[in-house]
Amino acid sequence: MSLRIAAIADIHYAEGPVHLPYARRTAIADILLLRAIHRINRFIQPDLTVILGDLVDDGSRQGLEKLKEHIDKLESPCIVLPGNHDGEEFFSVFPSPEEVVDINGVRLLTFVDEEQPDYNARRSDLDIARMHEARAGYDGQLVSLQHYPLLPPNASESPYGYTNNADIWTAFENNHFTLALSGHWHTGDDLVARKAGRAIVAPALCEHPFTFLEINMDGDDIKTIRHELAMPRELELVDYHVHTPFAYCSQNMEVPITLALADEFGLAQLAFTEHSGQLYFERNTYWKAGFLDDGINSPEGADDRMGGYLELAKANCPPAILGLEIDCDNSGNPVIRRDAWDATEVKLGSIHWLKELKKPDDEIDLQAAADEMLGRLSKFAASGIDVLAHPLRIFRKWPDDELPANLIPGIIDLLKKNGVAAEINFHGQITTPMFMNTCLNAGVKVVFGSDSHHYREIGDFYPHLNLIRDCGLTCSDLPDILADLRNGER
Ligand SMILES: [Fe+2]
Ligand SMILES: [Fe+2]
Ligand SMILES: [Fe+2]
Repeated sequence: MSLRIAAIADIHYAEGPVHLPYARRTAIADILLLRAIHRINRFIQPDLTVILGDLVDDGSRQGLEKLKEHIDKLESPCIVLPGNHDGEEFFSVFPSPEEVVDINGVRLLTFVDEEQPDYNARRSDLDIARMHEARAGYDGQLVSLQHYPLLPPNASESPYGYTNNADIWTAFENNHFTLALSGHWHTGDDLVARKAGRAIVAPALCEHPFTFLEINMDGDDIKTIRHELAMPRELELVDYHVHTPFAYCSQNMEVPITLALADEFGLAQLAFTEHSGQLYFERNTYWKAGFLDDGINSPEGADDRMGGYLELAKANCPPAILGLEIDCDNSGNPVIRRDAWDATEVKLGSIHWLKELKKPDDEIDLQAAADEMLGRLSKFAASGIDVLAHPLRIFRKWPDDELPANLIPGIIDLLKKNGVAAEINFHGQITTPMFMNTCLNAGVKVVFGSDSHHYREIGDFYPHLNLIRDCGLTCSDLPDILADLRNGER
């Protein structure tokens, strides 16, 4: 039987300023957790998620409650253990963990061990007895879950452990446990990966590069995958699609925090790219696309906030790049005025609506929609935009191979002809290897965009980098395939 576990340890959330001179990034730890949870739900889909203690740094009840709201978003079953930082009120916010959890033929035992001096711990005789009882009449896999590092004697450099480790480890071995999974030591130590024993100490989520583990158990065979929430700094990745508080659909995105997070997440730079249509038209008009027939000169719902956006962006560019996500009207014209066009360094063009696709589902003629898209794009791509944002997003309801045969080649021809890059975007949609390979074969460059509307999304290129790998490429190919739009280059 196989079991996939996502293991998160040592979140250490505490309210406070974003910039802190400590390794523990306590003030962004809630964002880190949310970013991990979204990756777990969307891409890892484990059978079980375990949270191995030290959720908060300061025992704060409000902190625990805030994290619980995030943890409740996990789609997998979840076990939450307290750590030595979680304080007295932990069990009034989180339920006591079940002592024994059986899942997919694996029996997991949870332990809440008593703290000892110097950040060590002791397992009670009663709890050691539980390790024996769990084996009685049971011949499947056993896993021990705890906050403090449970390790084979002399097998790790962990400065922390159990004052009665020899007794616990004897019980572990005599009862043929498959794995001890712990947290607490922020450096972490994967003894399974380095073939030094059946123990894993998950590294702290709160310390760069913000790691959690995916553990795949198949019988006694265990494989771990490290998931880092920060991008490798040496890749010098640029996020070309980041929203601001000016977006009607923004969930937070205050500029100073956005910039701090871009740095935390290892980006070389980011571009602010607010929707032009949202900066010229009031909310209702924008959402019902009421400005698209007449474009920038549409009288309906005009509400010019462009000046405010440019002022905010200019004050922060550099370090950021001043850009816009420019809507396309029904005639293929960019929805923008000259002054804003001239002020922006990076122009993402977006086709968010097609008339054909606004019809009821059963009346949509997909070929007509494809032709409308290509007609619109033939003018829009020639307008001077640098990037076509989320090229197939409006067709996301249909798999790429069900789309009319002329659509993808037609889009890519127009991008190629006009020197426009294609955005790789996974925000509420996907970019497929088929689309990416068609770009590469045609010599169309790509850019990475997160389309961030929430802090947790900034520079999250996990799916983008997987796509590169799925196309048979490696990170060393990135300089050849990514467009670099900084300093006015195209
Ligand atoms: Fe900790
Ligand atoms: Fe968009
Ligand atoms: Fe966007």
